[in-house]
Amino acid sequence: MGLVVGFGVRGIRAIRANRVERHRRSMAWASFFVVAFLVAYLCKRIVLGGEDLGAWTLAARLNLYVHEAFVVTMLLAGATAFVLGRQLASTRRVTQSAGDPPPPPQTLARHRLAGRVALACALLGFVTACGILGGMLARA
Ligand code: HEM
Repeated sequence: MGLVVGFGVRGIRAIRANRVERHRRSMAWASFFVVAFLVAYLCKRIVLGGEDLGAWTLAARLNLYVHEAFVVTMLLAGATAFVLGRQLASTRRVTQSAGDPPPPPQTLARHRLAGRVALACALLGFVTACGILGGMLARA
């Protein structure tokens, strides 16, 4: 998740410097690491099974549920940002060519909002993941 946050921050910095291609590539890498994380998580669930939450403190369980909520919100908002980003790809905001159609302001605004929500949730998901890891190490 640290890589997702890292590439997400790089992507935001890129678009603020008006480097659209760098933004697109950074967000594609962030999306790749989200998918890689999901595949690794599913493999772990299939091979090792779920965690024995009976051994977890209440605070650790609450942290886990909050973490899962951030991850689900990140997935939904990130997918929305991705779809809206694809809709912007053929507009002059991305192509930088005056001959191409202007981007619909609503699509820009929704893309920005969805992207910011996804990145905020990725950051909070990362912070809560550190708490989960800390708890696992303490129980080991
Ligand atoms: C999951 C993938 C993506 C995420 C999470 C994302 C996230 C964001 C965020 C957070 C912003 C606002 C930055 C700010 O705070 O100023 C933004 C802006 C922008 N993004 Fe993305 N983005 C993604 C994919 C794409 C793609 C594929 C394209 C198109 C090739 C794209 C094109 C743009 C453009 C043109 C802006 C500037 C909008 C404006 O002028 O207001 N994004 N993106």
